[in-house]
Amino acid sequence: MIANNISRAPDGALRFAGQSVPALAAQYGTPLYLMDEDRIRSNCRMYRDAFRACYGDGALPLYAGKACAFKQMYRIMAEEGMGVDAVSVGEIHTALEAGFPAERIYFHGDGKTDADIRFALDHGVGWFIVDNPGELEQLNAEAGRRGIRQKILLRITPGIDPHTYRAISTGMVDVKFGVAIETGQAREFVRAAMGMEHLETAGLHCHVGSSVFDEDVFQRTVDIMVCFMKELRDALGFVTRVLNVGGGYGVRYVDSDPQTDIPARIREVAAHLRQKTAEAGLPLPYFLMEPGRSIVADAGMTVYTVSTVKHIPGYKSYAVVDGGMTDNPRYCLYGAKYTVLHAERDGHLRAIFDLVGRACESGDVIQPAVSLPADTARGDRIAVCTTGAYNYAMASNYNRLPRPAVVMLRGKESYIAVRRETVEDLCALDV
Ligand code: LLP
Repeated sequence: MIANNISRAPDGALRFAGQSVPALAAQYGTPLYLMDEDRIRSNCRMYRDAFRACYGDGALPLYAGKACAFKQMYRIMAEEGMGVDAVSVGEIHTALEAGFPAERIYFHGDGKTDADIRFALDHGVGWFIVDNPGELEQLNAEAGRRGIRQKILLRITPGIDPHTYRAISTGMVDVKFGVAIETGQAREFVRAAMGMEHLETAGLHCHVGSSVFDEDVFQRTVDIMVCFMKELRDALGFVTRVLNVGGGYGVRYVDSDPQTDIPARIREVAAHLRQKTAEAGLPLPYFLMEPGRSIVADAGMTVYTVSTVKHIPGYKSYAVVDGGMTDNPRYCLYGAKYTVLHAERDGHLRAIFDLVGRACESGDVIQPAVSLPADTARGDRIAVCTTGAYNYAMASNYNRLPRPAVVMLRGKESYIAVRRETVEDLCALDV
């Protein structure tokens, strides 16, 4: 199986986190997001333990809430001692509603509005990751009005190609995020921040991309950032006390994807950072990373019910399900690959189907050319694996389709973390 929390019972029923997928589908209805709470927690611990082993108390993993955010997720993150990367007032509000401590929230984003800045300051958000000079000035002014000194990191663009999907690469010179080193603008950005009376510029942030599999991407990032840190010390007398290298470790969606040994990668990056900072005569900075996908992706599974099967002789066969691009737009957006399994039986005689959704457009494909039992028919349950990251988070109400419930699996129990949307919910904002 693609992940070790997925198995099949002797009768063929798929099991996820030790529980029967068809039984959960019957109990909660479909389409349905299942999330393995124990896996989320063990992924958090994997990061925390590796960080502790490498840096002692000098590091903190921040969960990137953009991957999957709802209140229960933030409660788990609070209990697991994680920090949080938030990119909007909506994420901050959700975290605070869940009781997540404001001082462990790091507020990201290249398009923060004045209202966003005020909201975050008014709610005591611990850190801002400032993307651009305009935001810097506005934040300084707002912090001044409140008589505080706001802690910040500056988002720097290191100029790295992480060899992932173009749409999720963020570290190259010409991206819309941060301020580039190569153009000389980053140094001026730091100089400007140092002059801001109401901002405490503790360090730097960068993020090179998502679904990163290249083993040396973070080492290359460290090389560039430490070189820049040295330049800042020599030219401006600025000491980088905090270094955040973003998120991005890839996960396995299909058998051909490599398995990333994250603790091993973290150890290598730590050793590299120690060596490079020592060579440059710089203190080892407090180290942050912002994993999203690698915390929640393999904790998720989506379950659908087949509405119809269509065979077009000489062409192809479709399995149409009761969800689609509205709950998982990732194939449509990125051509993302997924492992698709029949949830009730393995089936010896198999056939190839395009697994498609119910939205009114031909592009509503969850995954093309998947192998399923040849007798797959209306009413059968289908599972798409590894959907914990950027599925619920990117779901929409296109065609006025209500979004699925999110059900958490914990030990032998299950509970609703986000209830299913109703048609009344869909009209709730209409006047
Ligand atoms: N930090 C920053 C500044 C980011 O922009 C991101 C992701 C992360 C951390 C978390 O990266 P992760 O560990 O999850 O790779 N919707 C796309 C992914 C967009 C990622 C955006 N930024 C997808 O479905 O693949």
